[in-house]
Parts: sequence; structure tokens; C-alpha cells
Amino acid sequence: MSKNIHTKPPGIEDIFPDRIPLWNFILNCAKEVFKTYNFKELIIPVLEYTDVFIKGIGDDTDIVSKEMFSFEDRGGRNLCLRPEGTAGVVRAYVENGDYNRLSLSKFFYAGPMFRAEKPQKGRLRQFNQFGAETFGSNSPYYDSEIILMIDAITKRLGIATYNILINSIGCPDCRPAYIKELREYYKNNINELCEDCKKRVDRNPLRLLDCKNEKCGELKKHAPVISCFICGNCKDHHNAVKTSLDRNGVKYTEDPMLVRGLDYYTKTTFEFVSTDLGSQSAFAAGGRYDNLVETFGGKPTPAVGFAAGMERLMLLLEGRKMEHQLDVFIAYSGESAFSKALDILNTLRSRNISADIDPESGSLKSQFKKSDRENTKISIIIGEDELRENKVTIKKMQTGEQKKIEEKDIIDFISGSLN
Ligand code: HAM
Repeated sequence: MSKNIHTKPPGIEDIFPDRIPLWNFILNCAKEVFKTYNFKELIIPVLEYTDVFIKGIGDDTDIVSKEMFSFEDRGGRNLCLRPEGTAGVVRAYVENGDYNRLSLSKFFYAGPMFRAEKPQKGRLRQFNQFGAETFGSNSPYYDSEIILMIDAITKRLGIATYNILINSIGCPDCRPAYIKELREYYKNNINELCEDCKKRVDRNPLRLLDCKNEKCGELKKHAPVISCFICGNCKDHHNAVKTSLDRNGVKYTEDPMLVRGLDYYTKTTFEFVSTDLGSQSAFAAGGRYDNLVETFGGKPTPAVGFAAGMERLMLLLEGRKMEHQLDVFIAYSGESAFSKALDILNTLRSRNISADIDPESGSLKSQFKKSDRENTKISIIIGEDELRENKVTIKKMQTGEQKKIEEKDIIDFISGSLN
């Protein structure tokens, strides 16, 4: 028998019920904030043609050149588990005429992404993101709206220590002059570069700035910075984004080396980072990508967006106690009490009250133990006395307070106690 049936592949996680309350808290916070900013949910496929990401993210990026889970399907198609959401959202937006005819569209999405990275704390091969994308406007207002929205989500989650790094990486008009200068610089230091970067100097020198190799990192410290090269239009845009953040009291740090590991960005790039995460410090990131819709065959449509990593947010909120709670556990003694308990169980569940029972348990004592394990708010007890009197005993687990009530009053009493 294959030993692979006993274990999951590296960098892949199971998420058991004890972590789900925190998981849902994070996702619900994000969804509440998306709603207040008028973003609408879009569900896109996990599987796409590999070309979507090669074209979208760029073939010199680490994601495309080293990290994609791509394969040929039985029909000879080259498919890929999505490594990120943006390229798929753009593909869907261009493919769906109804949406790309609107002057402005704001979408959010959530789900698993796949990158064959070296697994470590906060870096998985299957990880989950939620993200948002705005299509149809050049206005710096929308760059700042995205950053303000992430800031609102972060604050609502109760994360207090983080920093926002921002930069502008210019546009196709001004970036070539910078690329030329960067290429010169790295050519003069070519022997200091890692093997991958040696190849990138001619093809895509911007990618050298996000190389994780230590020696390349040292060289980066003295590399030319893009802020000296960006054109008036990009500069105005960048200043307008910063003014908007200032007006809203959001603090940020300018990082002139923040180019990000995906090729599609133009103008604004940003990252939300926390030192509490160690080396994988970014918990949300994104930027503007004004040319990607056109790359996918759509009409020129500027866009801006972000994605946040669920697992990294979980790490930041690790100490937060958030437990699963069951509204009602029904304990009974004897056969007749069991059938009454089942009737009550069904009624409670049909009223959206979470409820459970142990159909195999013998003693009341062992049923109470199970109730404790489920972190129950209220127990209903049906013993011989209760059966005879057509009543049940209700016990509030937090206070220990207990009283007998008529069967007909159960729903009202429990609904009142749970609110
Ligand atoms: P990204 O920076 O590649 O951007 O990923 C966004 C976030 O996903 C990261 O900040 C991190 O929290 C999380 N993340 C990325 N890789 C991993 C991993 N291997 N394990 C755990 N978490 C991870 C994008 O994906 C762009 N699509 C963002 C964007 C949207 N730009 C414009 N629109």
C-alpha cells in the first residue's frame, strides 16, 4: 500500500474545527468591509489554462518560472492550479461582456491558491487569499480606496502593529529609462549575482529587485531607485494617492525598492507588513495594473487591486481565543426520554438553533461530559421526573443556573436566553 495515503503533500494544510471560528471571523470581517465599500463577490475557477498566468504574471517571475502546478489534462490542454487571483479575474472580466461594458466594476473573491514554494512558517503550497479588484478608472482615488479598505479590515480584525509600504514603479513611458540604468548597474556587477539573476539581467532586470538570494539582496542596496526616473504623470498620481492616505490619517512608509514579484504592475505598488510574521512579513499586497486587461484582449481598462493571505492573518491572530460553541445539548435518560429528545432536537434545528445529542451514550454523566466538550451554552435534561411532569430541565452552562419549564415553552425560553 502506498505510504502517500497517510500523509498530505508538503506545504499543504488541513484546517480542523478548532481553527475554523477564527478563520470565519477573518473572512466575515473582510466580507463586511467589502460590502461597505460596494465590492461584489465573484467566484472564479481554481483551474485555468496555464497561459492565463504566463501572460498575466510574466514568464520571468518566480511564480511562473518555478512555482506553478501545471499539467496536461486528458484532452491535451495545458492547465494550471491558480497561483493567484488577479489574472483569473481579468480573464473572467474580459470574457464576460456584461461586466466589461460597465464603466466601473468592483469585485472581491476568496479561495485557495497554489504555488510550489519552499514551505516554511507563513509560506505554503496551498494557501488561501481574499482579494479585490477595481476595473475602469485611472483615478488615484481608487488606489487609495483599496489601501484604505485593507486598513479598515486590518483594524477591524484588531491587528495593531503593522506598516504599509508604498511605491510607484512608473508606466511604460518612464520605466524603460529606469530599466536601462538598472541593467547597466547589474551588468557591472554580474559576477555577484545568482545564476537565475544572471539570466534576468537582459530579459527583465526589474525582477532582480525581488530576488531572495542573499548576495543579490546586498547588491540591491546600492541599485538605482525608480523614484528618480518616473514621469510627471506617475509622480502626480503617486502624490495624489499619498495625499488621500494622509487625509484619512493612514500612516505609510515609502519603499523605493518595492517592485513586487509579478510583472503586471504599473504606478502604485504596496504591501502591508508585520514584523510579527518573521521573514514572510507581508499579509496583504497589491497595486495598479493599467495594461493587463488589454493584454488579455480587452479594451484598455485601468485597474487596481490587492490580495491578503488568510494563513498569515491567522498567524497574526493566533493568540485570539475563539471557540466553537453549541447552543443546546440534550441529555436524556431512558428510551421514552430519547424519543422526546429527538422531537425537541428537530424542532430546535428547524429554528436555526444549533443542537446535538448523544444517541449511544448510557449514563447522564457521560452525556454531560460530551456536552462540556462541545462547549455548550444550554443543556436540556429529560429524566424520569421530567417525563412524568411533561417538563424539561434547562441548565445555563456558564452560570450553572437551572430550572424546570413546560415543554411548550422550550423554544421561547431558549431563544430568549441565547440572545
Ligand atoms: P502576492 O503578493 O503574491 O500578490 O500575494 C498576496 C498575499 O498572499 C501575500 O501578501 C501573502 O499574504 C499571501 N501569500 C502569497 N504567497 C503565499 C504563500 N506561499 N503562502 C501563504 N501566503 C501567501 C498577489 O497574489 C496579487 N494577485 C495581489 C494583487 C491583486 N495585485 C493586484 N490585485
